[in-house]
Amino acid sequence: MNPRLFACTALSLALAAPISAAENQGDTIDLAAAQKRADATVAQMSAQEKTVITHGIMPLPGGGPKVDIPKDAIIGAGYVAGIERLGIPALRETDASLGVTWVSGARGDWATALPSAVSQAASWNPALIRRGGAMIGAEARAKGFNVLLAGGVNLARDPRNGRTFEYFSEDPLLSGVLAGAAIRGVQSNHVISTIKHFALNGQETGRKYVDVKIAPGAAHESDLLAFQIGIEQGQPASVMCAYNRVHGAQACDSDWLLNKVLKQEWGYKGFVMSDWGAVPSIQTAINGLDHQSGEQLDPGVFFGSQIAGKAAADKAWSVRLDDMNRRILTAIYAAGLDKYPAPPGGAIDWDAHALVAEDVAKQGIVLLKNEGGALPLAKTAKSIAVIGGYADGGVLSGAGSSQVMGKGGPAVKLPVAGSGIWAGFISESYHRSSPMTAIKAQAPGAAVLYRQGQYIKDAAELAARSEVAVVFATQWMTEGLDVPDLSLPRGQDALIAAVAAANPNTIVVLETGGPVKMPWLGKVKAVVEAWYPGARGGEAVASVLFGETNPSGRLPISFPADESQLPRPRLDGSDWVEPDFGGNPKNGKDKLATDYDIEGSDVGYRWYARTGTKPLFPFGYGLSYTTFTQGKPAVKGLSASVTVTNTGQRAGADVVQLYLTSRAGENKRRLVGFGRVELAPGASGKVAMTIDPRLLADWKDGGWTVPAGDYAFAVGSDAEHLGAAVSVKMKSRSWKD
Ligand code: BGC
Repeated sequence: MNPRLFACTALSLALAAPISAAENQGDTIDLAAAQKRADATVAQMSAQEKTVITHGIMPLPGGGPKVDIPKDAIIGAGYVAGIERLGIPALRETDASLGVTWVSGARGDWATALPSAVSQAASWNPALIRRGGAMIGAEARAKGFNVLLAGGVNLARDPRNGRTFEYFSEDPLLSGVLAGAAIRGVQSNHVISTIKHFALNGQETGRKYVDVKIAPGAAHESDLLAFQIGIEQGQPASVMCAYNRVHGAQACDSDWLLNKVLKQEWGYKGFVMSDWGAVPSIQTAINGLDHQSGEQLDPGVFFGSQIAGKAAADKAWSVRLDDMNRRILTAIYAAGLDKYPAPPGGAIDWDAHALVAEDVAKQGIVLLKNEGGALPLAKTAKSIAVIGGYADGGVLSGAGSSQVMGKGGPAVKLPVAGSGIWAGFISESYHRSSPMTAIKAQAPGAAVLYRQGQYIKDAAELAARSEVAVVFATQWMTEGLDVPDLSLPRGQDALIAAVAAANPNTIVVLETGGPVKMPWLGKVKAVVEAWYPGARGGEAVASVLFGETNPSGRLPISFPADESQLPRPRLDGSDWVEPDFGGNPKNGKDKLATDYDIEGSDVGYRWYARTGTKPLFPFGYGLSYTTFTQGKPAVKGLSASVTVTNTGQRAGADVVQLYLTSRAGENKRRLVGFGRVELAPGASGKVAMTIDPRLLADWKDGGWTVPAGDYAFAVGSDAEHLGAAVSVKMKSRSWKD
């Protein structure tokens, strides 16, 4: 158990959004201040030099079309040459939000894997997420990388999105605050972080041509707001534009997204880099793209000699090229890449880093059901059946470009067909952190026996002769492919039902990328959502099962009872687009549109509130081994506070969630503040929050508007179960960003 938890006594002030100045200290980089220096450098650049840092390669042998890899490149996602004469360092880029990625072992090293982003978000703890970011940023730096392609913040509009595990949540406040915290952590190492994938990148099916339709107001109040908050709080030196189309244009070619929203409305001063293989033409430069990444994956190298030619012939292009250089240099100087070089071979404190990953996993685990106090398990148990999920070997991780692996590589790897690096990218891999070994350590006197569960009867027989059965159920997700539905694959529902029928003390541990359906829910005693729990997931799960860790995670995403409850009961394209990692159109005629105006900004819990439907588990939900009471919120203007008391027998952490429930006579459901507080038994704590007025507002005609009237706020144990509301009067107001 976290010792800090016990230190907390009578009254404590918990972390709440937005981040306090003290917590920010020393972390944020100053893009505006670096601009002057960037201007001075651009003034010294020759025409040829202006096309050096504007594009880069993917230095990966066997990673797509052949490319010459310079000697000073490191195998990874990207390499951009530097300019020695001007003291501009080369950019060495690695993925991603969960740690330094493994690239199928091509570099011959390893790294510490954080739990999935959705698991991180379940902690609702920005300080913890910042620590995670600092940890993975330190590993990037030690390995010689100075750019980490982190900061995944797309909203979970559809839980079938194959990258759900790489993103935080369905709510713009929670996602934006956590992304900001993660980015601050990464950049505290003098490593540039991206925020990605800008924007409205909500599904993988047909990912390079799916065309998103959404009204500008709804976009600003949802997906764009998550980015906006993340950028404000994290100051990422770079924004990565997405693969998908928005209103007909590729996101990396979208004047609306890149020029109008990001650079003009928000005044963003860093640079926009493309996603890999997302640049359709040279025109992207005019539409706001500053840097072409992984250029061998695009139809041409546009930002080298081609753009130099345009700049020589046309003033508008030369102004744009100067601005592209200025923005990239602003990022380099603000993050201190030239002053604090990152030579490869730096020391890594693996044990300390593993503890960070373990802490994040513990705080992210969500207890979904605990009938009759079935959990925590007694350490004196005599026999435990561990079934499924390769739990004898390790814990599942998500796949794609974000795949991190620890020392020794995967404990289990189920390859997809094919060979080479791309096949390796999307294998089903398990981290070497065995839940079974960790369970044995918690209950040293127990006979702990394992069945993988391919033979259901055999597994049920083992369960029948054991005191308790713990079934590990997995849902594998990967970049590039969506899941066709939310059921547990490979007959695991039948396995769980059979085990539960054989043993009344059946506990289910889910290792899923996101929400799944649970047809067996009524038959099992307890359900623990462990997500993809990272490098020390096995230890974290066992610690929760045996009560050393009191679970405190809260769902950052609603769990639908059925796909029919979703705004799009069928994921667009899933009935005709063949699963394909590349996601390219096959014949140039493929048309795939998705209509986000169906739900507009009512993503996730707001959709359930609007349609009056009940999900299986609501956003914000999560149980504890202790009990809490939350007082009525005190709201004055935009300041709110809530007192929480631990009324149970164990130390634990509660998450205050403050929702707007009505505005000027109109029903609303919006998260406007949150804070996690750790409390000893009997102790009270106060969570103070400042409400961001954008969360109360509508975006229309180029700005934010709040109507005059009564605004009601309530605290909820989740988005569905709300306490008594308090009402405050607000004046009408309109403002621009
Ligand atoms: C992903 C990005 C990643 C990039 C570089 C793309 O496939 O969408 O998230 O950063 O590859 O590996």
